[in-house]
This record gives sequence, structure tokens and C-alpha cells, in this order.
Amino acid sequence: MEYNTNTNPFNKALFGDDFVWGVSTAAVQIEGAHDADGKGESIWDVFVRRKGKIKGNVHNCVACDFYNRYEEDINLIKQLNIPNFRFSISWSRIIPDGTETINQAGIDYYNRIIDHCLAIGVEPWITLYHWDLPHVLELKGGWTNREVVNWFTNFVKVCANAFGDRVKHWMVMNEPSVFTGAGYFFGLHAPGKTGLSNFLPAVHHVTLSIAAGGKVLRELLPQAEIGTTFSCSYIEPYSQKPRDVAAAKRVDALLNRLFVEPVLGLGYPFDDLPVSKGLKKYMLPGDEDKLAFDFDFIGLQNYTREIVKYSFFTPYIGASLVKAEKRHVPLTAMGWEVWPESIYHLLHKYNKYPEIRKIYLTESGAAFPDVYQDDVVHDPLRVAYLQEYLQQVLKAKNEGCEVSGYFIWTLTDNFEWAEGYHPRFGIIYVDFETQQRVIKSSGKWYADFLSGI
Ligand code: NOJ
Repeated sequence: MEYNTNTNPFNKALFGDDFVWGVSTAAVQIEGAHDADGKGESIWDVFVRRKGKIKGNVHNCVACDFYNRYEEDINLIKQLNIPNFRFSISWSRIIPDGTETINQAGIDYYNRIIDHCLAIGVEPWITLYHWDLPHVLELKGGWTNREVVNWFTNFVKVCANAFGDRVKHWMVMNEPSVFTGAGYFFGLHAPGKTGLSNFLPAVHHVTLSIAAGGKVLRELLPQAEIGTTFSCSYIEPYSQKPRDVAAAKRVDALLNRLFVEPVLGLGYPFDDLPVSKGLKKYMLPGDEDKLAFDFDFIGLQNYTREIVKYSFFTPYIGASLVKAEKRHVPLTAMGWEVWPESIYHLLHKYNKYPEIRKIYLTESGAAFPDVYQDDVVHDPLRVAYLQEYLQQVLKAKNEGCEVSGYFIWTLTDNFEWAEGYHPRFGIIYVDFETQQRVIKSSGKWYADFLSGI
């Protein structure tokens, strides 16, 4: 097997026996079966039908057909020696009308997944919200309507009651800054809304819901380990000119602090992110306290770094990102810079918050143009990426940073949101015509690494 041998040899034992290893997925990206067995429409089911929204005009109606192939795919997780499987619950699959009627077929499906995991010795980790709001709730304003906090906590209760007897690890939400930014400001993701008047209320109601969801889980499942996940990018100013440094600080507050700090009880970063002062319009008396919850862990998800420049022309933030392709650096198929030190710096950054008790890296991975040839898929770039990022994790850990686990994004190639199927992030290749799975070199490398080789 060809691994990247340019990096120093290291092995799983160096991370300690308690370190948690896993792989992450999300319902919209893998399940397909968009209208099977009583499932309601999600905002993504509707969004993919809008012209020009998804590259290649593809959709997620079938995706990896995980809905029908979950057993085969979970068996592959086991075959790769991966002890932990993170997946998300489709809200509209289990409560098609968003709030009232339970679809037992949807509950049964997730029960089958959980039971199969446990039967073969794979630990299930649930993400409650990975971006697929029921469309009926979007028609009532979605995340911009404060009522969503009640709709969401009801969904959390249903899941806790249905799955909490067997699932011990929970994440309330996935990457709030991405789904509010892309979905409610730029209109690039579902539901395709734009502007501050959508973004700011969405931010506030999502933050309230993160804390409210955490509280419901703690109340109903006192033994469970409860967390929530955040995207983060290491931010550097383009130059040391004060205007670039100040711009970088604003972008850091937007991408790395806006959701994390209120959840930790520190409030929104109003001073460092002036545009966030607009959130006050949506805050009711007592809300500051309602934003905080004492999570058992924080999930961090990092892919790259961003270089930031002052920009007079960018409204609200006065900053722009210097595209990686213009910087002549190694890129992934998403156009993101490969820069492993990012994860090291971010671990140090988040370790400075005494309020964070535990950190899992709940996503790390890369898309590259993998090719199926002669019955194998060689992805040396992904192997190198994973090894180099892991070495940076180990370096931070050895310097005393708290970091308790690492989940690869992702198991199989899948539906990469507005980018369609072109970016392949999986450690298992999927031929989307035939649904054939082929374990890539990276999958084999992870399997060997996890078996201690
Ligand atoms: C983070 C998101 O959680 C996931 O859904 C997405 O596929 C990866 N980033 C890669 O873009």
C-alpha cells in the first residue's frame, strides 16, 4: 500500500488509549430516499429543485442511498476498524410536519441504524441538526422566526426519547455559522435567503436553540455526553498594516467567535464585530442568559486557514478573503488551502477558553479528484493531508492542549451541498451510477492506523 512517507512515522498509541477515533456523515449528504416512507420535505429537498443553485443541476434524492444501504456502509466502518460513527437525524423524516405528527417509519429507520451499530460494536454519535429544516417550518420563516426555538426543542425531545436509551453521545447542531451565513445571508445554501434582515434573526434563534437543545438533552438524558459543533478557520491578516490586522480581527470574530462565545456564557462579540450589534434588535430581556449552556464538549471542525485583507467595498464587515488559488499554495478540490498548522493554532486558541471542558475534532478531511482505475482508488493526497493534520493535532496535544478525539470527514463520497457530487471527500469511493463502494488508500491507511500498525 502506498502511503505518504514524507512525514514522520507516528501511530495511534501516541494519542493515548482514551482518544476517540471516528468518522462523520450527515443525513442530507448520504441518505437519499427523500420522500420514502412518509418523510416530509426538507429545505434542501426544495432548494435542489431551484435552477442554478447546485453545480451540475444534481440533487440529493438518491445521494449514496444510505437509507437502503446503511447496513453495508456500517459494516464498512467496522471493517475499517473505526470505533465511532457520527451521523445526523433528518428532522422531516421523523416529524414530517415539523412539530406534531411522528412518522414511526422514520424513527424505526434510525433505530435500525443504531441497533446495527451496537450489534457490531460501532458507537453511534448523533448530530441533531445538520442543516435540513422541515420545509413547512421554513414557510413560517424558518430560523428567522423565534418560534423555531420551540419547534426545535420539541424535535430534540422526540429524538432524546426515541434514541436516548442507546445513544450516549449527542451534538445539538452542526456548524451554525455556515448554515446561517450560506443559507440566510448569501443565499448559496438552503433556504436561499439573503441579507442582514434574515441573517441576524437566524443567528440569534439558532444560538438560543443550541442552548435550549443542550438543556433538553441534559434533562432527559442526564448520563449522556452532550456537545455541539462549530466550524473554525485560522485567520491571518494579509499584512501587518493596522487596517488588515483590524479586518482579520473582525473576520475572526465572525467565523470563530460569534456562536461559540454566547454558548460559553460570554455573550456575542459586539465590540470586535460591530455588525453583530444588529442582533440586539432581536434580543428579548433575559436572552443573554438563555444563550449559554454548559456543554460537556465542543466539536471543532477545521479544513483550512483564511488570509484577510481590509476592503472598503465589502459591506458590514469591511474585509475580504484572499483566495487561496491566488496565493499559489496547495489546494483541495474545494479550492481550500492545505495548511495543517491551522488545526494546531485553533486547538491552542480554543484551549484558552476555561469554559470549554473538552474538545473533539468532529470533522477533518479533504476533497481531491479521486479516480477509480484498475479496481483501486489511490488518494495519496488525502492520506498525506490526514497524516499531516493529525501530526499537528498531536503536537498541540503534546504541548498540553485538551483534545480528546478526531473524526474524519467523511465515510463515503457524497452530496457536497451546492457543490454537488464533484468534490469527493470520502475515504470510500462511490460510483454514483452503480452505488458501488471502493475503499480508497486513505480508508486502508485509516484502518491500519486504527489497528495500531
Ligand atoms: C462541514 C460540513 O459539516 C459538512 O457537511 C461538509 O460536507 C464539510 N464541511 C465539507 O465541506
